[in-house]
Amino acid sequence: MMKILVVGGGGREHAIVWKLAQSPLCDEIYCAPGNAGIAQIADCVNIPAEDIDSLLDFAQAEDIDLTVVGPEAPLSLGIVDKFTAAGRKIFGPSQSAALIEGSKELAKQIMEKYGIPTAKYQSFTDKEQALAYVRKQGAPIVVKADGLAAGKGVVVAETLAEAEQAVEDMLSGNAFGAAGAKVVIEEFLAGEEVSVLAFTDGHTVLPMVSAQDHKRAFDGDKGPNTGGMGAYSPAPVYTPALAEEVLHKVLQPAVDGLRAEGRLYKGVLYAGLMVTADGVKVLEFNARFGDPETQAVLARLKSDLVEIMLAVIDGTLAEKQLEWYDDAAVCVVIASGGYPGHYAKGQPISGLDDDLPDTYVFHAGTAYAGQKIVANGGRVLGVTARGADIRQAIDRAYQRADRIHYEGCFCRRDIGHRALERGNK
Ligand code: AMP
Ligand code: GLY
Repeated sequence: MMKILVVGGGGREHAIVWKLAQSPLCDEIYCAPGNAGIAQIADCVNIPAEDIDSLLDFAQAEDIDLTVVGPEAPLSLGIVDKFTAAGRKIFGPSQSAALIEGSKELAKQIMEKYGIPTAKYQSFTDKEQALAYVRKQGAPIVVKADGLAAGKGVVVAETLAEAEQAVEDMLSGNAFGAAGAKVVIEEFLAGEEVSVLAFTDGHTVLPMVSAQDHKRAFDGDKGPNTGGMGAYSPAPVYTPALAEEVLHKVLQPAVDGLRAEGRLYKGVLYAGLMVTADGVKVLEFNARFGDPETQAVLARLKSDLVEIMLAVIDGTLAEKQLEWYDDAAVCVVIASGGYPGHYAKGQPISGLDDDLPDTYVFHAGTAYAGQKIVANGGRVLGVTARGADIRQAIDRAYQRADRIHYEGCFCRRDIGHRALERGNK
Protein backbone atom coordinates (compact mmCIF):
# COMPACT_ATOMS: atom_id res chain seq x y z
CA MET A 1 0.00 0.00 0.00
CA MET A 2 1.31 3.38 -0.98
CA LYS A 3 1.35 6.96 0.18
CA ILE A 4 1.06 9.31 -2.78
CA LEU A 5 1.70 13.06 -3.07
CA VAL A 6 0.39 15.10 -6.00
CA VAL A 7 2.04 18.48 -6.61
CA GLY A 8 -0.19 21.28 -7.89
CA GLY A 9 -3.64 22.64 -7.23
CA GLY A 10 -5.64 23.03 -10.44
CA GLY A 11 -8.25 21.09 -12.37
CA ARG A 12 -5.61 18.84 -13.86
CA GLU A 13 -4.36 17.90 -10.39
CA HIS A 14 -7.91 17.28 -9.16
CA ALA A 15 -8.43 14.82 -12.03
CA ILE A 16 -5.06 13.16 -11.33
CA VAL A 17 -5.82 12.81 -7.61
CA TRP A 18 -9.32 11.49 -8.41
CA LYS A 19 -7.89 8.82 -10.72
CA LEU A 20 -4.94 7.83 -8.51
CA ALA A 21 -7.19 7.53 -5.46
CA GLN A 22 -9.23 4.84 -7.25
CA SER A 23 -6.21 2.55 -7.45
CA PRO A 24 -6.12 -0.41 -5.06
CA LEU A 25 -2.42 0.43 -4.62
CA CYS A 26 -3.23 3.85 -3.15
CA ASP A 27 -3.57 3.94 0.61
CA GLU A 28 -3.20 7.62 1.46
CA ILE A 29 -3.14 10.57 -0.90
CA TYR A 30 -1.88 14.11 -0.31
CA CYS A 31 -1.91 17.17 -2.54
CA ALA A 32 0.24 20.30 -2.28
CA PRO A 33 -1.23 22.85 -2.27
CA GLY A 34 -4.51 21.40 -3.66
CA ASN A 35 -7.82 23.30 -3.61
CA ALA A 36 -11.27 23.03 -2.04
CA GLY A 37 -12.39 20.22 -4.37
CA ILE A 38 -9.21 18.20 -3.96
CA ALA A 39 -9.58 18.58 -0.17
CA GLN A 40 -12.70 16.41 -0.39
CA ILE A 41 -10.69 13.38 -1.58
CA ALA A 42 -7.12 14.06 -0.39
CA ASP A 43 -5.21 15.66 2.46
CA CYS A 44 -4.16 19.09 1.23
CA VAL A 45 -0.79 20.32 2.41
CA ASN A 46 -0.13 24.03 2.38
CA ILE A 47 3.11 24.05 0.36
CA PRO A 48 3.32 25.92 -2.97
CA ALA A 49 4.11 23.75 -6.00
CA GLU A 50 7.37 25.66 -6.60
CA ASP A 51 8.74 25.21 -3.06
CA ILE A 52 10.74 22.11 -3.89
CA ASP A 53 12.79 21.98 -0.68
CA SER A 54 9.68 22.05 1.51
CA LEU A 55 7.99 19.45 -0.71
CA LEU A 56 10.99 17.15 -0.36
CA ASP A 57 11.08 17.69 3.42
CA PHE A 58 7.39 16.75 3.54
CA ALA A 59 7.92 13.65 1.37
CA GLN A 60 10.81 12.53 3.60
CA ALA A 61 8.94 13.18 6.83
CA GLU A 62 5.81 11.34 5.64
CA ASP A 63 7.78 8.65 3.79
CA ILE A 64 5.85 9.28 0.57
CA ASP A 65 6.19 6.34 -1.88
CA LEU A 66 5.23 8.17 -5.07
CA THR A 67 5.14 11.88 -5.94
CA VAL A 68 3.34 13.03 -9.09
CA VAL A 69 4.04 16.49 -10.54
CA GLY A 70 1.19 18.33 -12.27
CA PRO A 71 2.43 21.78 -13.42
CA GLU A 72 5.47 22.75 -15.46
CA ALA A 73 7.03 25.24 -13.01
CA PRO A 74 8.41 22.71 -10.49
CA LEU A 75 9.61 20.50 -13.36
CA SER A 76 11.62 23.39 -14.83
CA LEU A 77 13.00 24.09 -11.36
CA GLY A 78 14.34 20.52 -11.14
CA ILE A 79 11.95 18.89 -8.65
CA VAL A 80 12.41 15.49 -10.30
CA ASP A 81 16.21 15.65 -10.09
CA LYS A 82 16.07 16.61 -6.39
CA PHE A 83 13.60 13.90 -5.39
CA THR A 84 15.45 11.27 -7.40
CA ALA A 85 18.78 12.24 -5.82
CA ALA A 86 17.13 11.81 -2.41
CA GLY A 87 15.94 8.33 -3.41
CA ARG A 88 12.25 9.25 -3.71
CA LYS A 89 10.14 8.00 -6.61
CA ILE A 90 8.70 10.87 -8.59
CA PHE A 91 6.70 10.98 -11.82
CA GLY A 92 7.77 13.60 -14.34
CA PRO A 93 10.72 14.53 -16.56
CA SER A 94 14.07 15.78 -15.25
CA GLN A 95 14.93 19.47 -15.52
CA SER A 96 16.94 18.97 -18.71
CA ALA A 97 14.23 16.86 -20.36
CA ALA A 98 11.46 19.29 -19.33
CA LEU A 99 13.25 21.98 -21.31
CA ILE A 100 11.36 20.63 -24.35
CA GLU A 101 8.55 22.80 -22.94
CA GLY A 102 10.62 25.45 -21.17
CA SER A 103 12.47 26.50 -24.31
CA LYS A 104 10.57 26.73 -27.56
CA GLU A 105 13.91 27.15 -29.30
CA LEU A 106 15.22 23.84 -27.94
CA ALA A 107 11.98 22.15 -29.00
CA LYS A 108 12.44 23.55 -32.50
CA GLN A 109 16.09 22.45 -32.66
CA ILE A 110 15.21 18.90 -31.62
CA MET A 111 12.38 18.74 -34.15
CA GLU A 112 14.69 19.97 -36.89
CA LYS A 113 17.50 17.57 -35.99
CA TYR A 114 15.27 14.49 -35.71
CA GLY A 115 13.01 15.21 -38.67
CA ILE A 116 9.82 15.92 -36.72
CA PRO A 117 7.37 17.97 -38.82
CA THR A 118 6.76 21.50 -37.52
CA ALA A 119 6.25 25.07 -38.76
CA LYS A 120 9.28 26.83 -40.28
CA TYR A 121 10.79 29.29 -37.85
CA GLN A 122 13.62 31.59 -36.84
CA SER A 123 14.51 32.86 -33.38
CA PHE A 124 15.69 36.34 -32.46
CA THR A 125 16.97 38.33 -29.53
CA ASP A 126 17.48 41.48 -31.59
CA LYS A 127 14.33 43.50 -32.09
CA GLU A 128 15.32 45.16 -35.38
CA GLN A 129 16.28 41.80 -36.93
CA ALA A 130 13.02 40.28 -35.72
CA LEU A 131 11.01 43.16 -37.17
CA ALA A 132 12.84 42.89 -40.48
CA TYR A 133 12.10 39.17 -40.64
CA VAL A 134 8.42 39.67 -39.85
CA ARG A 135 8.15 42.33 -42.57
CA LYS A 136 9.83 40.04 -45.08
CA GLN A 137 7.56 37.08 -44.26
CA GLY A 138 4.31 39.05 -44.02
CA ALA A 139 1.13 38.13 -42.12
CA PRO A 140 -0.43 35.91 -40.94
CA ILE A 141 2.55 34.95 -38.80
CA VAL A 142 3.07 33.64 -35.27
CA VAL A 143 5.25 35.27 -32.61
CA LYS A 144 6.18 33.26 -29.49
CA ALA A 145 8.07 34.18 -26.33
CA ASP A 146 10.86 31.62 -25.96
CA GLY A 147 10.37 30.75 -22.28
CA LEU A 148 7.44 29.76 -20.09
CA ALA A 149 4.62 32.31 -20.20
CA ALA A 150 1.72 30.30 -18.74
CA GLY A 151 0.32 29.48 -22.17
CA LYS A 152 -0.09 33.16 -22.97
CA GLY A 153 3.19 33.94 -24.72
CA VAL A 154 1.88 33.24 -28.21
CA VAL A 155 0.50 35.83 -30.61
CA VAL A 156 -1.11 34.55 -33.79
CA ALA A 157 -0.90 37.80 -35.76
CA GLU A 158 -3.38 38.26 -38.56
CA THR A 159 -1.87 41.56 -39.65
CA LEU A 160 1.66 42.86 -39.95
CA ALA A 161 0.88 45.59 -37.43
CA GLU A 162 -0.13 42.99 -34.82
CA ALA A 163 3.04 41.00 -35.47
CA GLU A 164 5.22 44.08 -35.14
CA GLN A 165 3.48 45.01 -31.89
CA ALA A 166 4.06 41.51 -30.50
CA VAL A 167 7.77 41.62 -31.35
CA GLU A 168 7.97 45.10 -29.87
CA ASP A 169 6.26 44.00 -26.62
CA MET A 170 8.25 40.80 -26.17
CA LEU A 171 11.71 42.07 -27.06
CA SER A 172 11.33 45.30 -25.12
CA GLY A 173 10.77 43.13 -22.06
CA ASN A 174 7.35 44.69 -21.49
CA ALA A 175 5.09 41.70 -21.78
CA PHE A 176 6.77 38.61 -20.34
CA GLY A 177 10.01 39.71 -18.68
CA ALA A 178 12.80 37.15 -19.05
CA ALA A 179 10.50 34.67 -20.85
CA GLY A 180 10.33 37.11 -23.75
CA ALA A 181 14.05 37.92 -24.00
CA LYS A 182 14.08 35.74 -27.09
CA VAL A 183 11.28 35.25 -29.59
CA VAL A 184 10.54 32.42 -31.98
CA ILE A 185 8.80 33.61 -35.13
CA GLU A 186 7.10 30.93 -37.11
CA GLU A 187 5.03 30.22 -40.15
CA PHE A 188 1.25 30.32 -39.63
CA LEU A 189 -0.29 26.86 -40.00
CA ALA A 190 -3.90 26.43 -41.05
CA GLY A 191 -5.77 23.31 -39.98
CA GLU A 192 -7.44 21.63 -37.04
CA GLU A 193 -5.70 21.30 -33.68
CA VAL A 194 -5.47 18.15 -31.62
CA SER A 195 -3.62 17.35 -28.41
CA VAL A 196 -2.02 13.97 -27.86
CA LEU A 197 -0.54 13.05 -24.51
CA ALA A 198 1.67 10.00 -24.14
CA PHE A 199 3.25 8.14 -21.25
CA THR A 200 6.90 7.36 -21.81
CA ASP A 201 9.73 5.84 -19.80
CA GLY A 202 12.30 7.30 -22.19
CA HIS A 203 12.11 4.30 -24.55
CA THR A 204 8.57 2.97 -24.87
CA VAL A 205 5.80 5.40 -25.82
CA LEU A 206 2.16 4.69 -24.92
CA PRO A 207 -0.07 7.39 -26.44
CA MET A 208 -3.30 8.27 -24.69
CA VAL A 209 -6.61 8.94 -26.41
CA SER A 210 -6.74 12.26 -28.27
CA ALA A 211 -8.28 15.47 -27.02
CA GLN A 212 -9.06 18.91 -28.28
CA ASP A 213 -8.70 22.06 -26.24
CA HIS A 214 -10.54 25.39 -26.70
CA LYS A 215 -7.97 28.09 -26.08
CA ARG A 216 -9.94 31.25 -26.86
CA ALA A 217 -12.04 32.84 -24.13
CA PHE A 218 -15.33 33.19 -25.99
CA ASP A 219 -17.74 31.23 -28.19
CA GLY A 220 -16.80 30.78 -31.82
CA ASP A 221 -13.09 30.85 -30.89
CA LYS A 222 -13.21 34.59 -30.32
CA GLY A 223 -11.40 36.66 -27.73
CA PRO A 224 -8.00 36.32 -26.09
CA ASN A 225 -6.05 33.07 -25.63
CA THR A 226 -6.51 31.43 -22.23
CA GLY A 227 -5.08 28.42 -20.45
CA GLY A 228 -8.00 26.47 -21.96
CA MET A 229 -11.78 26.92 -21.66
CA GLY A 230 -12.78 23.32 -22.23
CA ALA A 231 -11.81 20.07 -23.88
CA TYR A 232 -13.25 16.94 -25.34
CA SER A 233 -12.03 13.45 -26.12
CA PRO A 234 -11.81 11.78 -28.57
CA ALA A 235 -11.10 14.31 -31.33
CA PRO A 236 -12.73 12.90 -34.49
CA VAL A 237 -9.99 14.46 -36.64
CA TYR A 238 -7.60 12.00 -34.99
CA THR A 239 -8.21 8.88 -37.06
CA PRO A 240 -6.36 5.59 -36.40
CA ALA A 241 -4.16 6.36 -39.45
CA LEU A 242 -3.26 9.75 -38.00
CA ALA A 243 -2.53 8.13 -34.63
CA GLU A 244 0.00 5.84 -36.33
CA GLU A 245 1.56 8.80 -38.12
CA VAL A 246 1.87 10.75 -34.87
CA LEU A 247 3.42 7.84 -32.97
CA HIS A 248 6.02 7.11 -35.65
CA LYS A 249 6.75 10.62 -36.93
CA VAL A 250 6.34 12.69 -33.78
CA LEU A 251 6.20 10.97 -30.39
CA GLN A 252 8.72 8.15 -30.83
CA PRO A 253 11.31 10.32 -32.63
CA ALA A 254 10.92 13.02 -29.97
CA VAL A 255 11.53 10.56 -27.13
CA ASP A 256 14.41 8.87 -29.00
CA GLY A 257 15.88 12.26 -29.92
CA LEU A 258 15.70 13.56 -26.36
CA ARG A 259 17.43 10.39 -25.15
CA ALA A 260 20.14 10.76 -27.80
CA GLU A 261 20.68 14.35 -26.57
CA GLY A 262 21.23 13.10 -23.02
CA ARG A 263 17.78 14.26 -21.92
CA LEU A 264 16.14 10.93 -21.03
CA TYR A 265 12.43 11.78 -20.90
CA LYS A 266 10.17 10.06 -18.37
CA GLY A 267 6.62 11.16 -17.68
CA VAL A 268 3.89 12.55 -19.88
CA LEU A 269 4.90 14.11 -23.16
CA TYR A 270 2.20 16.36 -24.58
CA ALA A 271 2.21 17.10 -28.29
CA GLY A 272 0.08 20.02 -29.46
CA LEU A 273 -0.53 19.25 -33.14
CA MET A 274 -1.98 20.96 -36.18
CA VAL A 275 -3.52 18.66 -38.77
CA THR A 276 -2.73 20.54 -41.99
CA ALA A 277 -3.36 19.83 -45.65
CA ASP A 278 0.19 18.47 -45.92
CA GLY A 279 0.24 16.27 -42.86
CA VAL A 280 0.44 16.66 -39.12
CA LYS A 281 2.78 19.32 -37.67
CA VAL A 282 3.86 19.99 -34.09
CA LEU A 283 2.84 23.34 -32.58
CA GLU A 284 4.41 22.69 -29.21
CA PHE A 285 5.55 20.07 -26.75
CA ASN A 286 4.62 20.24 -23.10
CA ALA A 287 6.38 18.30 -20.38
CA ARG A 288 3.26 17.37 -18.44
CA PHE A 289 -0.44 16.58 -18.59
CA GLY A 290 -2.48 19.32 -20.32
CA ASP A 291 -5.13 21.32 -18.52
CA PRO A 292 -8.09 20.90 -19.24
CA GLU A 293 -7.37 18.00 -21.64
CA THR A 294 -6.45 15.77 -18.68
CA GLN A 295 -9.90 16.10 -17.13
CA ALA A 296 -11.47 14.66 -20.31
CA VAL A 297 -8.73 12.10 -20.99
CA LEU A 298 -8.46 10.63 -17.47
CA ALA A 299 -12.25 10.38 -17.28
CA ARG A 300 -11.86 7.76 -20.04
CA LEU A 301 -8.87 5.84 -18.63
CA LYS A 302 -9.75 2.35 -17.42
CA SER A 303 -6.20 1.25 -16.49
CA ASP A 304 -4.71 1.75 -13.04
CA LEU A 305 -2.85 5.08 -13.19
CA VAL A 306 -0.58 4.20 -10.25
CA GLU A 307 0.67 1.07 -12.05
CA ILE A 308 1.33 3.02 -15.24
CA MET A 309 3.23 5.76 -13.41
CA LEU A 310 5.38 3.25 -11.55
CA ALA A 311 6.22 1.53 -14.85
CA VAL A 312 7.27 4.90 -16.30
CA ILE A 313 9.59 5.56 -13.36
CA ASP A 314 10.98 2.00 -13.32
CA GLY A 315 11.49 1.88 -17.10
CA THR A 316 9.14 -1.08 -17.61
CA LEU A 317 6.45 0.58 -19.69
CA ALA A 318 7.01 -1.96 -22.51
CA GLU A 319 5.18 -4.49 -20.32
CA LYS A 320 2.06 -2.30 -20.00
CA GLN A 321 -0.96 -1.46 -22.11
CA LEU A 322 -3.49 1.29 -21.68
CA GLU A 323 -7.18 0.46 -21.54
CA TRP A 324 -9.87 3.05 -22.24
CA TYR A 325 -13.62 3.41 -22.00
CA ASP A 326 -15.17 3.78 -25.45
CA ASP A 327 -17.28 6.67 -24.13
CA ALA A 328 -16.61 10.27 -25.06
CA ALA A 329 -15.77 12.86 -22.41
CA VAL A 330 -16.20 16.63 -22.31
CA CYS A 331 -14.86 19.19 -19.85
CA VAL A 332 -16.49 22.64 -19.66
CA VAL A 333 -14.47 25.24 -17.75
CA ILE A 334 -16.34 27.74 -15.58
CA ALA A 335 -14.25 30.89 -15.30
CA SER A 336 -14.49 34.23 -13.53
CA GLY A 337 -15.62 37.40 -15.33
CA GLY A 338 -12.59 39.20 -16.75
CA TYR A 339 -10.42 36.08 -17.16
CA PRO A 340 -7.81 35.86 -18.74
CA GLY A 341 -7.38 39.46 -17.59
CA HIS A 342 -8.18 40.78 -14.13
CA TYR A 343 -10.96 39.00 -12.19
CA ALA A 344 -12.48 39.02 -8.70
CA LYS A 345 -11.95 36.33 -6.05
CA GLY A 346 -13.91 35.18 -3.04
CA GLN A 347 -17.42 34.81 -4.52
CA PRO A 348 -19.34 31.92 -2.88
CA ILE A 349 -20.21 29.12 -5.35
CA SER A 350 -23.64 27.47 -5.28
CA GLY A 351 -24.84 24.24 -6.84
CA LEU A 352 -21.70 22.19 -6.22
CA ASP A 353 -23.55 19.54 -4.22
CA ASP A 354 -25.96 18.61 -6.97
CA ASP A 355 -25.11 15.30 -8.51
CA LEU A 356 -25.61 13.73 -11.89
CA PRO A 357 -24.38 10.30 -12.96
CA ASP A 358 -21.16 10.26 -14.99
CA THR A 359 -20.37 13.89 -14.25
CA TYR A 360 -17.42 15.09 -12.17
CA VAL A 361 -16.82 18.64 -11.06
CA PHE A 362 -13.06 19.09 -10.98
CA HIS A 363 -12.01 22.19 -9.08
CA ALA A 364 -9.36 24.47 -10.57
CA GLY A 365 -9.34 27.74 -8.62
CA THR A 366 -11.40 27.26 -5.46
CA ALA A 367 -10.76 27.71 -1.76
CA TYR A 368 -12.61 27.38 1.52
CA ALA A 369 -13.77 30.55 3.24
CA GLY A 370 -14.97 29.08 6.53
CA GLN A 371 -17.40 26.35 5.50
CA LYS A 372 -18.10 27.89 2.11
CA ILE A 373 -16.38 27.10 -1.18
CA VAL A 374 -15.45 30.30 -3.02
CA ALA A 375 -13.89 31.20 -6.36
CA ASN A 376 -10.16 31.69 -6.04
CA GLY A 377 -8.76 31.92 -9.57
CA GLY A 378 -9.45 32.65 -13.22
CA ARG A 379 -10.42 29.15 -14.21
CA VAL A 380 -12.52 27.96 -11.29
CA LEU A 381 -14.16 24.62 -12.18
CA GLY A 382 -13.92 21.98 -14.90
CA VAL A 383 -17.28 20.32 -15.23
CA THR A 384 -16.58 16.97 -16.86
CA ALA A 385 -19.00 14.36 -18.16
CA ARG A 386 -18.84 11.02 -19.91
CA GLY A 387 -21.41 9.93 -22.44
CA ALA A 388 -21.98 7.30 -25.10
CA ASP A 389 -20.96 9.90 -27.68
CA ILE A 390 -19.78 13.51 -27.76
CA ARG A 391 -23.34 14.84 -28.01
CA GLN A 392 -24.41 13.03 -24.84
CA ALA A 393 -21.24 14.03 -23.00
CA ILE A 394 -21.79 17.69 -23.98
CA ASP A 395 -25.41 17.60 -22.84
CA ARG A 396 -24.50 16.07 -19.50
CA ALA A 397 -21.64 18.49 -18.89
CA TYR A 398 -23.83 21.56 -19.54
CA GLN A 399 -26.71 20.12 -17.51
CA ARG A 400 -24.34 19.85 -14.58
CA ALA A 401 -22.58 23.17 -15.26
CA ASP A 402 -25.89 25.03 -15.42
CA ARG A 403 -26.67 24.12 -11.81
CA ILE A 404 -23.51 25.88 -10.64
CA HIS A 405 -23.40 29.61 -10.09
CA TYR A 406 -21.34 32.41 -8.60
CA GLU A 407 -21.17 36.12 -9.24
CA GLY A 408 -19.53 36.90 -12.56
CA CYS A 409 -19.06 33.29 -13.68
CA PHE A 410 -19.09 32.37 -17.36
CA CYS A 411 -18.40 29.41 -19.57
CA ARG A 412 -18.23 28.85 -23.31
CA ARG A 413 -21.44 27.34 -24.65
CA ASP A 414 -19.81 25.66 -27.64
CA ILE A 415 -17.34 23.19 -26.16
CA GLY A 416 -17.16 20.19 -28.49
CA HIS A 417 -18.74 22.04 -31.43
CA ARG A 418 -16.00 21.03 -33.86
CA ALA A 419 -16.54 17.35 -33.11
CA LEU A 420 -20.28 17.76 -33.72
CA GLU A 421 -19.73 19.61 -36.98
CA ARG A 422 -17.43 16.87 -38.15
CA GLY A 423 -19.87 14.16 -37.09
CA ASN A 424 -22.66 15.90 -39.05
CA LYS A 425 -20.67 16.14 -42.26
P1 AMP B 1 1.35 27.08 -28.36
O1 AMP B 1 1.42 27.54 -26.92
O2 AMP B 1 2.66 27.11 -29.05
O3 AMP B 1 0.60 25.81 -28.55
O4 AMP B 1 0.41 28.15 -29.06
C1 AMP B 1 -0.87 28.48 -28.54
C2 AMP B 1 -1.89 28.45 -29.63
O5 AMP B 1 -1.52 29.34 -30.69
C3 AMP B 1 -2.01 27.10 -30.31
O6 AMP B 1 -2.86 26.26 -29.62
C4 AMP B 1 -2.56 27.50 -31.66
O7 AMP B 1 -3.93 27.73 -31.61
C5 AMP B 1 -1.86 28.79 -31.94
N1 AMP B 1 -0.64 28.56 -32.74
C6 AMP B 1 0.60 28.31 -32.27
N2 AMP B 1 1.48 28.16 -33.29
C7 AMP B 1 0.78 28.31 -34.42
C8 AMP B 1 1.12 28.27 -35.83
N3 AMP B 1 2.37 28.06 -36.23
N4 AMP B 1 0.14 28.45 -36.71
C9 AMP B 1 -1.14 28.69 -36.31
N5 AMP B 1 -1.51 28.75 -35.03
C10 AMP B 1 -0.59 28.56 -34.08
N1 GLY C 1 -4.36 23.07 -22.42
C1 GLY C 1 -3.08 23.42 -22.85
C2 GLY C 1 -2.00 23.15 -21.89
O1 GLY C 1 -2.17 22.51 -20.90
O2 GLY C 1 -0.89 23.59 -22.15
